[in-house]
Amino acid sequence: MNIQQALQLASHKLSDSSPSAMLDAQVLLTHILQCNTAHLMAWPETELDERQASHYLMLVQQRQQGSPVAHLTGQREFWSLDFFVNDCTLIPRPETETLVDFILDRFSDKQNLKVLDMGTGTGAIAIAIASERPDWTIFASDFSPEALELAMKNSKAHQTESITFIRSDWFEDITSSDFDIIISNPPYIADSDPHLQEGDVRFEPRSALIAGKTGMDDIMHLCLHARAFLKKNGWLILEHGYNQKQQVADCFTLNRYDGIKQVQDLSGHTRMTAGRNA
Ligand SMILES: C[S@@+](CC[C@H](N)C(=O)[O-])C[C@H]1O[C@@H](n2cnc3c(N)ncnc32)[C@H](O)[C@@H]1O
Repeated sequence: MNIQQALQLASHKLSDSSPSAMLDAQVLLTHILQCNTAHLMAWPETELDERQASHYLMLVQQRQQGSPVAHLTGQREFWSLDFFVNDCTLIPRPETETLVDFILDRFSDKQNLKVLDMGTGTGAIAIAIASERPDWTIFASDFSPEALELAMKNSKAHQTESITFIRSDWFEDITSSDFDIIISNPPYIADSDPHLQEGDVRFEPRSALIAGKTGMDDIMHLCLHARAFLKKNGWLILEHGYNQKQQVADCFTLNRYDGIKQVQDLSGHTRMTAGRNA
């Protein structure tokens, strides 16, 4: 089997189970061959050896059964950085880059800010910010020891080892109360949401996804408690669901944040709310 045949075979096999069959086939094959997509295009007649072919077919079969591509390759790109991923936390999503963009746009590298990324998961947000603002003081927390281990591995790979990782159930073990920015992409899906039965989320831990009956439990908790850990005029910045715009704005208002801003992701959905500790 050569590269072209391998891609055709997999995109055919995956056409019913994946919305991005050819892309999935390419990512899996670049992973097996340790090359980039340009190589696949340039050398379609290169033969896979027996070991490569059987490994590839095994991954295609797992993908057919629903496993996320990122779990099969162990990697996902976020903010143009490669992150190790596994099934202990969320696979970083492109919409979360909206939060990183907002921070870099708004806060210049002239200031030395103290930032806390809560529910850091793979460390995606904290590491992306640290890679752009190496002089900032960055903390990242999660209640999952496995997620923290993964985040520390990613931090080492991206040489952002100045990030301090803390195991904490939200604010329970956070001892500083002078953050300039608290940022989080918390769980925000309602426990009965039918999307939980579809796509990659079926393979991600429920503790990274679900926040009670309405999906608002963790957002409400963060809104209520973050002010005690922020400096005056410090910012709370949260990602949320595309359909939670009004509820989250109300939650920020109720908890007396001011200067509330809501930002859309690249698909035009409002996915981020920020407010200042007045
Ligand atoms: C939606 S994922 C976000 C992961 C990562 N920040 C990202 O954007 O890709 C939510 C994260 O919050 C963590 N988490 C859930 N409940 C938590 C709690 N009570 N305290 C701390 N972290 C929590 C989960 O372990 C998970 O890593």
